[in-house]
Amino acid sequence: MGIFAFVFLSSSLFLFYFVFSDAADRITQSQSLSDGTNLVSKNGSFVLGFFSTGNSTNRYLGIWYNNIPVRTVVWVANWRNPIRDSSGVLMLNSSGSLVLLSQNKTIAWSASSTKEVGSPVVELLDSGNLVLREEDEENPGSYLWQSFDYPSDTWLPGMKLGWDLRTGFERRLTAWKSPDDPSPGELSCGIELHNYPEVVMKNGSKNYDRTGPWNGIGFSGAIGVKANQVYDFDFVSNKDEVYFIYHTIKNSVITRAVVNQTSYLYERYIWIEADKKWIPYMIQPQDKCDIYNLCGAYGNCIIGESPICQCIEGFKPRSTERWNPDDWAKGCVRTTELSCDDKDKIGFVKFVGLKLPDTTYSWVNKSMNLNECRVKCLNNCSCMAYSNTDIRDGGSGCALWYGDLIDIRQVAANGQDLYIRMPASKKVNQDKQKMKVIVAVATVIAVVFGVLLIAYCICKRKNFREKMRDKGMIDQNIDGQSEDLELPFFSLAIIAIATNKFSSNNKLGEGGFGLVYKGILADGQEIAVKRLSQNSRQGLSEFKNEVKSIAKLQHRNLVRLLGYCIEGEEKVLIYEYMPNGSLDSFIFDQMRSNIIGWSMRFNIICGIARGLLYLHEDSRLRIIHRDLKASNILLDSKMNPKISDFGMAKTFGGDQIEGNTNRVVGTYGYMAPEYAIDGLFSVKSDVFSFGILLLEIICGKKNRGSFHRDHSMNLVGHAWKSWKEGRILELIDTCLKDSCIMSELERCLHISFLCLQQHHEDRPNMSFVVMMLHSESSLLEPKEPCFYVGKTSPSSSKNQSSSTNEITITLLDGR
Ligand SMILES: *[C@@H]1O[C@H](CO)[C@@H](O)[C@H](O)[C@H]1NC(C)=O
Ligand SMILES: *[C@@H]1O[C@H](CO)[C@@H](O)[C@H](O)[C@H]1NC(C)=O
Ligand SMILES: *[C@@H]1O[C@H](CO)[C@@H](O)[C@H](O)[C@H]1NC(C)=O
Ligand SMILES: *[C@@H]1O[C@H](CO)[C@@H](O)[C@H](O)[C@H]1NC(C)=O
Ligand SMILES: *[C@@H]1O[C@H](CO)[C@@H](O)[C@H](O)[C@H]1NC(C)=O
Ligand SMILES: *[C@@H]1O[C@H](CO)[C@@H](O)[C@H](O)[C@H]1NC(C)=O
Ligand SMILES: *[C@@H]1O[C@H](CO)[C@@H](O)[C@H](O)[C@H]1NC(C)=O
Ligand SMILES: *[C@@H]1O[C@H](CO)[C@@H](O)[C@H](O)[C@H]1NC(C)=O
Repeated sequence: MGIFAFVFLSSSLFLFYFVFSDAADRITQSQSLSDGTNLVSKNGSFVLGFFSTGNSTNRYLGIWYNNIPVRTVVWVANWRNPIRDSSGVLMLNSSGSLVLLSQNKTIAWSASSTKEVGSPVVELLDSGNLVLREEDEENPGSYLWQSFDYPSDTWLPGMKLGWDLRTGFERRLTAWKSPDDPSPGELSCGIELHNYPEVVMKNGSKNYDRTGPWNGIGFSGAIGVKANQVYDFDFVSNKDEVYFIYHTIKNSVITRAVVNQTSYLYERYIWIEADKKWIPYMIQPQDKCDIYNLCGAYGNCIIGESPICQCIEGFKPRSTERWNPDDWAKGCVRTTELSCDDKDKIGFVKFVGLKLPDTTYSWVNKSMNLNECRVKCLNNCSCMAYSNTDIRDGGSGCALWYGDLIDIRQVAANGQDLYIRMPASKKVNQDKQKMKVIVAVATVIAVVFGVLLIAYCICKRKNFREKMRDKGMIDQNIDGQSEDLELPFFSLAIIAIATNKFSSNNKLGEGGFGLVYKGILADGQEIAVKRLSQNSRQGLSEFKNEVKSIAKLQHRNLVRLLGYCIEGEEKVLIYEYMPNGSLDSFIFDQMRSNIIGWSMRFNIICGIARGLLYLHEDSRLRIIHRDLKASNILLDSKMNPKISDFGMAKTFGGDQIEGNTNRVVGTYGYMAPEYAIDGLFSVKSDVFSFGILLLEIICGKKNRGSFHRDHSMNLVGHAWKSWKEGRILELIDTCLKDSCIMSELERCLHISFLCLQQHHEDRPNMSFVVMMLHSESSLLEPKEPCFYVGKTSPSSSKNQSSSTNEITITLLDGR
């Protein structure tokens, strides 16, 4: 017995040294792994071993990152069944199963293949996947078992989340009960296998947050899941499998996603080596509207509306009392009942920018088009809505919804079109036959006329305008003088159709002097429609000013004006639509700011500089923007910046470079001192605003409203102090620390201080700024900027202190 014990002990000692010193990545049938020893994957990225959590002495077998000092466990084998002491041993038993034994030889955990096993090995791969396979069979398709099929709370690159339909096998993420207890918690995340599958996070058995179904590009309800520089993803749905997967784009990036019971979130993290910590990159739910079914059936959750639950058009709250938060979940009912007997009394209304409803009761045919889809829906009384299943290339496929529409929200970007069943208008009911004919004929005429008009306007714009001018028609639209706006005129009717009658669902935001809506023209072109508020201070003169200025401007860093409309009290500008919204929604947002790394920001900075240079010096007219700020920088689909909102641009003749005004317009936090205080504006006041913008892009903070220990200081003051003291790293947006080219960033910071100098004659002009951005020559030493920007203005301190958000203000200054 003694000899036997000695042999056993020395052999396990031998084994210990063997495993440890060679940092083996596998065990075969003759080997085992005991507590205290590890397997390390080939390139050293992951470890398999035993660990404890918190103060507990419980031992778990798990996988964690090898090179990350904060131990981050990505997988646990025996999470339901901890071993009470350090006696655990992992081995392959004689029938080829992977078993985890504790001291009394009870099995704490095991994994077996359904297939017959010859000579098995267990290997920890560099992806973090622990696989059981035949020794000579490395094809992933033939793995006998793999840990990627049994995820705990962590989703790693290359791991499929979803279903194998052939075997009915599901892979879903389940949160740890707490950071100290790896046993399964309530929160989980997986794919719901409806006809139209979607990713759903659940709290116990209740839905908690849906992404909405896959639309070929992303999920309409998960705005964080979109093209980015960190990872790409794919949703696969065929007869064999339905799964969601992602891969890192650069191998150097370490990222993981977890479902977290503590925060009740799905969180994606990125490892920042410089800071030695994980930073959150994206979370879900992102806001209240993501919470499942907050607004009940036919309720539309709209962030920014009060209350955030609104009934979609044609519906009213079910509870007749006040529309309290308690009542939201009761949802909405139709204002006019649907009559099912007569198809002619039914129509569909198109809603844009939505997260598609819960797909539990849905039906899909990927080869049908939208028209076939409509007919299919029309023919079944319980079909309440339809949409395309794939939004690429103008849309294809058909999805139908049966029963009440649940969990709808408005999403700014990535939203989708949904056609909801509605009773047709009363007129049609009254004299169905006659009206049908009239409507059909009118539609044909309108379409033909519209097409002709558009074609005519585009091809023969000049001729058309000349002829009309002869008749005195066009110019009367503007002011009766002979002006050439060089722009198509849109009728209010067309704009009303494009924006669904300026529906609040289409609202994109608020610009200077009015609301901006998204619209879609009959030909499918997306547009942004700025409807100038009727009681805004912008009179006809400013309106004409804006139209005139922009019509003449063509530059790739300026938002293009496509047309205008004046009818009665309505003044409307039609711009190209910018799918990525405005810069402020990225740089000031904790999550989204991670999407734009340094190279993208530098590109944005250079683009803004070029756009402004064009306005100041290259365009035929000298244009001073006067309201340059982050929310006026829009981003196109490729994240190229475009300057927008020339509402207050002042047009000059070529050589006039300064002006004085008794009407100060602009945004606090961005205004040059001489402009805010003395109403003196020049290209150099724009340069000042550019300097602020530059600082905000670098620091990821607003000038206004960023307070530091020293409360008297705004961002400019804080930045200047840090810069002077050489503490630049503390200043820059934390999410840039990984991606930035320090020399470039320091140069930009330096340039921003040159732009922020107190005396406008000290500030560089934009051509010099552009030159400095692109050269490596040494830069002048900036003089101290003025810190009190936007804090003191003698005539209007009251207004300023009460205005907390970045809205353009107009001061009627008595000076
Ligand atoms: C762990 O032990 C320390 C010291 O005894 C105690 O303060 C702490 O609360 C314990 N933590 C947990 C999670 O039990
Ligand atoms: C063996 O140990 C496990 C915990 O490791 C315990 O649950 C079980 O009761 C023990 N069985 C025997 C027979 O001691
Ligand atoms: C190996 O382990 C598996 C799983 O626990 C078990 O079913 C099988 O009987 C074991 N084989 C032997 C030879 O003990
Ligand atoms: C999760 O579900 C439990 C049990 O129904 C409930 O008490 C809890 O409030 C839910 N948590 C969240 C965040 O919804
Ligand atoms: C190891 O390999 C994995 C997968 O190929 C890769 O993503 C990772 O960057 C590599 N890690 C190291 C430290 O080389
Ligand atoms: C879950 O969230 C808590 C609190 O935010 C955090 O401390 C913890 O590290 C998170 N868990 C994981 C696995 O990231
Ligand atoms: C889907 O639609 C296509 C085209 O209309 C049709 O040929 C096909 O039979 C449909 N498939 C199903 C399952 O309904
Ligand atoms: C309408 O669709 C529902 C759900 O698919 C189905 O149960 C019902 O039979 C259909 N009704 C008709 C008239 O086709």
